[in-house]
Amino acid sequence: MAYTLQLLLVLCGVVGLSCAYYGPDLPPGPYCGTRDQCCSDRQDQCSRPILDTLCYCDSFCNRTRGHDDCCPDYEEVCLGLSPPTKLTEPCRHAGKLYLPGSSREDGCNTCECVLEDGITRWSCSQEACIIDGEVISRVNQDPRLGWRAYNYTQFYGKKLTDGLIYKLGTLKLSRETSRLGPINYDKEIPYPREFDARTRWPNYISPVVDQGWCGSDWAVSLSTIVSDRFAIQSNGAEKVILSPQTLLSCNVKGQQGCKGGHIDNAWIYAKNRGLVDESCFPYKAQLTRCPFKPRGNLIDTGCKPVVPQRTDRYKVGPPGRLTKEKDIMYDIMQSGPVQAVMTVYQDFFHYRDGIYRRSRYGNHEFKGYHSVRVVGWGEENGDKYWIVSNSWGPEWGENGYFRIARGNNESGIENFVVTVLSDVTEAYLRK
Ligand SMILES: *[C@@H]1O[C@H](CO)[C@@H](O)[C@H](O)[C@H]1NC(C)=O
Ligand SMILES: *[C@@H]1O[C@H](CO)[C@@H](O)[C@H](O)[C@H]1NC(C)=O
Ligand SMILES: *[C@@H]1O[C@H](CO)[C@@H](O)[C@H](O)[C@H]1NC(C)=O
Repeated sequence: MAYTLQLLLVLCGVVGLSCAYYGPDLPPGPYCGTRDQCCSDRQDQCSRPILDTLCYCDSFCNRTRGHDDCCPDYEEVCLGLSPPTKLTEPCRHAGKLYLPGSSREDGCNTCECVLEDGITRWSCSQEACIIDGEVISRVNQDPRLGWRAYNYTQFYGKKLTDGLIYKLGTLKLSRETSRLGPINYDKEIPYPREFDARTRWPNYISPVVDQGWCGSDWAVSLSTIVSDRFAIQSNGAEKVILSPQTLLSCNVKGQQGCKGGHIDNAWIYAKNRGLVDESCFPYKAQLTRCPFKPRGNLIDTGCKPVVPQRTDRYKVGPPGRLTKEKDIMYDIMQSGPVQAVMTVYQDFFHYRDGIYRRSRYGNHEFKGYHSVRVVGWGEENGDKYWIVSNSWGPEWGENGYFRIARGNNESGIENFVVTVLSDVTEAYLRK
């Protein structure tokens, strides 16, 4: 394109046409033509096609500052001013030319080509984005870190601050710590080196959910764990996928919907009011009106139970908090996946595979809290890890799961772990 421009300019000079250089993509004119074609008020014939739009040769074309739709040669032809002598250099990026006033996207930021005192420059917004090329290359060049990073399309062009709200959703723990009673098993049993609820109870572990752009991890992690535990505790009789939308839409008091929730509040809702199944109230990744009465049995809600004996909504017992690595392992082995709250920084969004530990790379200014489902553990070359289900769909990480270092409270993963028993219909309770 640069060559075409030069050619044009040379041609104008040689042939002696009255043409000037107005911008990288503009044909040299003339536009307004002769002085008597200029108008003193806005008339249709006073416009000329330019690029995909029109420019004007009337005295109104530059009345309002910032809305200059005059033809490039308006001043020269209509006002008799001399043509611009200095050529304005367009902005450039990746081999492309940009006119002043035009913009381009740069990750989650927008860059505008601005013209000041005849000089163009880029002016870009400075937000931290979720995806950071530097994090990707540094993580992938650091084999001792133990995990690899990836440029996920679902995060591209998104701001980090939005990711921390809408891809997570656990409000800062405060009263939770006191409201969920501690449980201590202290069982000295031979713990297996590896345990995975998905192979221990095939078909009972509910699929990875995609929470979308909705900070509903508090609802999603809870409903998946309760689903898994209904199936496990009933030996598959009450295998049910429970609906996180029940919590999102109905557990609204003290919660912030897609902007986050308190997990203690959600567990208390699940205990007192109960959930319904996903087919009855599918997940919509947005705050909708609660279609149910606050109290009532399952039939009142219009939902069909999986076993005829069930009348109540799907409820849980009192939630408890596990604080020790062995206790967490014991509980998973006995009853199924548990909920954990971890701290998420920018690098975590890029996780592709391996054993995650927070790296030194990327943004350390912003963080968020994330509720996830821990389904098991293992060891790789002496490196201990938890196996955890995320809620960013099956395309993310290791088929929707990630592994994270175990035994060192990595990213706070062992700091707040919640277990609960599902209220399985008596006749089907596993002995
Ligand atoms: C319109 O153009 C004339 C001639 O260049 C200039 O003096 C005047 O300031 C312009 N008006 C506005 C509003 O830009
Ligand atoms: C990530 O992928 C997008 C396309 O989806 C691309 O435009 C962008 O340059 C990539 N970023 C990095 C850091 O690789
Ligand atoms: C675990 O990590 C979290 C978050 O980093 C921290 O707040 C907590 O105090 C840690 N707990 C222990 C027992 O070290």
